[in-house]
Amino acid sequence: MPPNVMMKNTGKIDIMRDITKVFADAPVNEPDRQLYFIEMSKELLADIEKNAGRKLTYDVVTFGCQMNARDSEKLSGILDKMGFEAVDSEDADYVIYNTCTVRENANNKVYGRLGGLSHAKKKNPYMRIALCGCMMQEEHVVNKLQESYRFVDLVFGTHNIFKFPELTYRVLSGEDDMIIDIWKGTNDIVEELPVNRKYAFKSGVNIMFGCDNFCSYCIVPYVRGRERSRKSADILHEIEVMAKDGVKEVMLLGQNVNSYGKGLEEDISFAKLLKEVEKIDGIERIRFMTSHPKDLSDELIDVMAASKKICRHMHLPLQSGSDEILKRMNRHYDKARYLELIAKLREKMPDIAITTDIIVGFPGESEEDFEETLDVVEKARFDSAFTFIYSKRTGTPAAKMDPGADEATVKKRFDKLLKLVQQIAAEQAATHTGETVTVLAEQRNEQDESLITGRMSNNSTVHFKGDVSCIGSIVNVHLDECKGFYYYGTQV
Ligand code: SAH
Ligand code: SF4
Ligand code: F3S
Repeated sequence: MPPNVMMKNTGKIDIMRDITKVFADAPVNEPDRQLYFIEMSKELLADIEKNAGRKLTYDVVTFGCQMNARDSEKLSGILDKMGFEAVDSEDADYVIYNTCTVRENANNKVYGRLGGLSHAKKKNPYMRIALCGCMMQEEHVVNKLQESYRFVDLVFGTHNIFKFPELTYRVLSGEDDMIIDIWKGTNDIVEELPVNRKYAFKSGVNIMFGCDNFCSYCIVPYVRGRERSRKSADILHEIEVMAKDGVKEVMLLGQNVNSYGKGLEEDISFAKLLKEVEKIDGIERIRFMTSHPKDLSDELIDVMAASKKICRHMHLPLQSGSDEILKRMNRHYDKARYLELIAKLREKMPDIAITTDIIVGFPGESEEDFEETLDVVEKARFDSAFTFIYSKRTGTPAAKMDPGADEATVKKRFDKLLKLVQQIAAEQAATHTGETVTVLAEQRNEQDESLITGRMSNNSTVHFKGDVSCIGSIVNVHLDECKGFYYYGTQV
């Protein structure tokens, strides 16, 4: 067992008595219970800092999607409230890895980096390590951590992330054993805990959690649980508060935003929710992610087309262009339907950018199936596409299917697809050169200090000469030159 260094001068017995009392006095209901543990942790942290003779720092590292990034903002918000100091370095005293498990390489990355943390921990007696996120919902991962990564202090899952204050309190109080708290079932939604936004002027907003689609290759429904929508009043209230706080752009988040509202008592759809968000003063841009083609309604397309605030961008994952593969992926649309949606979107909004996700090498994918994917890419003319090699996820139906093509063939297909995707994306982008567009100025360019980097409504990136004072504002920029997937421009 590691020595209880954090408590070395405060006396473990006293602290233990206090801890028992702290838990006995804790409110039972949420979020009161967690707000209470934030306060208790704050006091405890102050004691530990007195011992250490310095401030204690934290670093939340996000792997994975926007949903995880948003969860990380919640974790950071809680740690800020407790009095930890944020740093962007894994030498921090409290390192939290918010993990992803959508593909095998996401898992490998985490295991790889844990090695480095173990070294850092040996040198820093105050260091604590927590792991959370989707990977932790898999039993084999937790078993492996228990066997080979004993230096990890806390492991918790996606369903009880709201319990982070209480769990952190236990970590700070010096519990010696690895604390493991994973919930199998689906939790209720806990509102009103602190959040620390990465950007002052834009923010993600969860509108729903989990996923019920069970695409046959995908682990998300198993690690994120059943789909549940937040009440519209709660979402709108959160956005109103953000708008008052200076947020101009919101990204509505869910694995399948088009099915928002299912299971709620109120009469609401995603299109209706968008109309309500549009009414909020101060919000100038609305984005959302991700849309599932099977639920993309005409109502939604019409609301988008009529909107002044909804950005001209639709991320619409294709996955495959082959009807046979789509059926086995359990996607509930076919090639023709997908192309019909693209045509509708482009007809109603000629300036829209359409982006996608594509998987190559799904079990049993033949050369003909792959050709169908290339065909959709050519016809849809995506403005950008994320391409992935199929990764087998234990526990999903696809994991039991015959693999089909060998690794070298799949790699060849992947390279061919990537080349086509990049060529079309560059051609699409070039069509906008010379236009003047609105850009949300986001940050100083990392390579060239004289440039500001921002995003167009269609989600493309622009670097332009400008003053830092415009960061956080929407400005007009002339697109001077297209560099394939980004532009150089001039503020006008
Ligand atoms: N909910 C979103 C996607 C979330 S995961 C949707 O349905 O569109 C993001 C992307 O990862 C997916 O669109 C898919 O292309 C890819 N992905 C998911 N599981 C995968 C797997 N087992 N192997 C390779 N790519 C996968
Ligand atoms: Fe995964 Fe499909 Fe759900 Fe997207 S819709 S998260 S791909 S199961
Ligand atoms: Fe990864 Fe979980 Fe998102 S598996 S993609 S972080 S929902």
